[in-house]
Parts: sequence; structure tokens; C-alpha cells
Amino acid sequence: THIPVVTVDGPSGVGKGTLCVLLAKHFKWNLLDSGAIYRVLALSILDHNISLDSEDVLETHALNLPLKFVTMESGVHVLLNDIDVSDKLRTQEIGEMASKIAALPKVREALLQRQRDFRNKPGLIADGRDMGTVVFPDAPVKIFLDASPEARAERRMKQLQKNKICAIYDEILHEIKARDERDRNRTIAPLKSASDAFLIDSTDLTIDEVFQQALKIIKSKI
Ligand code: C5P
Repeated sequence: THIPVVTVDGPSGVGKGTLCVLLAKHFKWNLLDSGAIYRVLALSILDHNISLDSEDVLETHALNLPLKFVTMESGVHVLLNDIDVSDKLRTQEIGEMASKIAALPKVREALLQRQRDFRNKPGLIADGRDMGTVVFPDAPVKIFLDASPEARAERRMKQLQKNKICAIYDEILHEIKARDERDRNRTIAPLKSASDAFLIDSTDLTIDEVFQQALKIIKSKI
């Protein structure tokens, strides 16, 4: 297709979500938060008490997942069975489960078309781990956003403190490293930069600086 896609891949807590929302607003393009799809599937699997042992059962569940994204003023909301589950998706438990099921080839395959269906006019900003490598390999612009685990842990701490949630830095850092390890080392669609991706290291950059760099990259290609 000729509909342009900008892929933004990178590890957990690097600020992909924030960058992608800004880019989608700026260009008035569609937004795919692929992590949310894995998280909704995780939520549904936990709700239904489905075991991780049978990949076939998980595959069927993934194929039939009654999932909808709706854009509201407050942002993109996720509906499961027409119920808004957006507030339930960001927990540690769901994140862990999402990263476990995301390592299963049949689950990833089952979610592929659903992700590609987001490629609608006038364009798409796609946020994930394998957007540039697997889901949209023909994307005209690919960005890989990285930052040190320590910088990501600090940002996460600040975010939690702002929401008055008590957190321990060492624990957060440990979780971030564990999630990286799993996402980077799985055999199927591991987190890695596409060979034709632009790297932005946000360790010492503000959100606005990251946004400006991304804009420059996109405008040079589209
Ligand atoms: O990005 P987010 O933290 O919401 O993603 C949750 C989990 O889903 C990640 O840790 C990762 O294992 C998985 N994921 C993936 N491929 C994507 C997006 C997310 O494997 N494209």
C-alpha cells in the first residue's frame, strides 16, 4: 500500500507512547499502540483463567478477541467486549503477562492482521517492539527509541511519585531490566532495531527534544 507508516520501536518505559501520541496529533494520523493489544489479550486471558500451556487455545482466543479502539478527547480508549478497560491495562501484572504471551509465535501471528488493519489514510504512527522489523517492514520511516535502563527507571519513578504511588528505585530498575531481557532475547520478533531505522537515544533528551528529532527525520523522508 502507499499509505505511509512511521514505526517507533524500543524498550519498555522509553517514552514511545508519549512520542507517538505527539506525532499522531501533529500529523493528524492514526495511532497503533500495539502493546495495548498484547495487554488486552493478557487481561482477557487472566479474566478467563486460561492457561499458558496450550498455544492453540491462546491463538484462538487472540483471533477472536472482541477488541476495539476508540479515540476520545482524553485519548485512545480500549474496549474489550464493549467495556472500557483502558484503566486496567497499565498494571505490573498485566505487563508481565503481556510479555509472556508476546513470546508465543502463534499468538503474534494471530495478532498480525489486526495490527496491519490500522494502516488507514492519511497515515499511521505505529508504537511497539517489532513494528519496523515484522509488522510494517515496508514502512518509509523507522525510528528506534532507546535510553539507558537507569534513565527509564528514573522517569518511571517520577511518574509514580506524581501519581502518589510509592515505589522503590532498585525494584523498578530490576523490573525494567528483566522485561528488556525477555523482549530482546525471545526467538520470535525480538526487540531490535530494524537495519534501516534511525536511532534516537533519549537518555539525556527532554520529550520535546525527542519530538523535534523525530519530526526532522520524518520530514526528511516523507
Ligand atoms: O509497550 P507495552 O509495555 O505496552 O507492551 C507490553 C508488552 O507487550 C511488552 O513487554 C512486550 O513484551 C509486548 N509487546 C510486543 N510487541 C509489540 C508490543 C508489545 O511483544 N509490538
